Amino acid sequence: MSIILIGFMGAGKSTVAKLLAEEFTDLDKLIEEEIEMPIATFFELFGEADFRKIENEVFELAVQKDIIIATGGGIIENPKNLNVLDRASRVVFLTADFDTLWKRISMDWQNVRPLAQDKEAAQLLFEKRMKDYSLVADLTIDVTDKSPEQIAELIREKWEIE
Ligand code: S3P
Repeated sequence: MSIILIGFMGAGKSTVAKLLAEEFTDLDKLIEEEIEMPIATFFELFGEADFRKIENEVFELAVQKDIIIATGGGIIENPKNLNVLDRASRVVFLTADFDTLWKRISMDWQNVRPLAQDKEAAQLLFEKRMKDYSLVADLTIDVTDKSPEQIAELIREKWEIE
């Protein structure tokens, strides 16, 4: 059964997924393989709606496998994905307050996030999304004062994973 990590940008989904299983699925990476370009370039050329379509296709294929999946922060933007998440039984929501996440996003130079170029816009997005993350979560973890290893341990404990 898959474990699906969800949450806003900067919550540490990929870092925690990697600790849970060396061979985890990073949805953003899979999408970039599929579109053969960085996500930011795809947003510029084709826009968000096309991105969400591909994100949904890649996600639906990924959940059929028994794996750890780190999703992108916007996975809950597509109602089809919300449906999948609703039916899944091991959805982990990594959360923190906006300022904590924004600090992490701003420090992450390696990852160009098209929807986090402007703080106010990102905050609005954060406020709009929080309810949906909560609604589909089977486990919610506040990551603020926790190390990635502590977070991974809480997930292992919850489902008794070695
Ligand atoms: C997005 C988050 C990104 C990536 C894309 C869109 C979003 O993933 O999927 O830039 O809409 O929040 P991370 O949450 O891994 O940064």
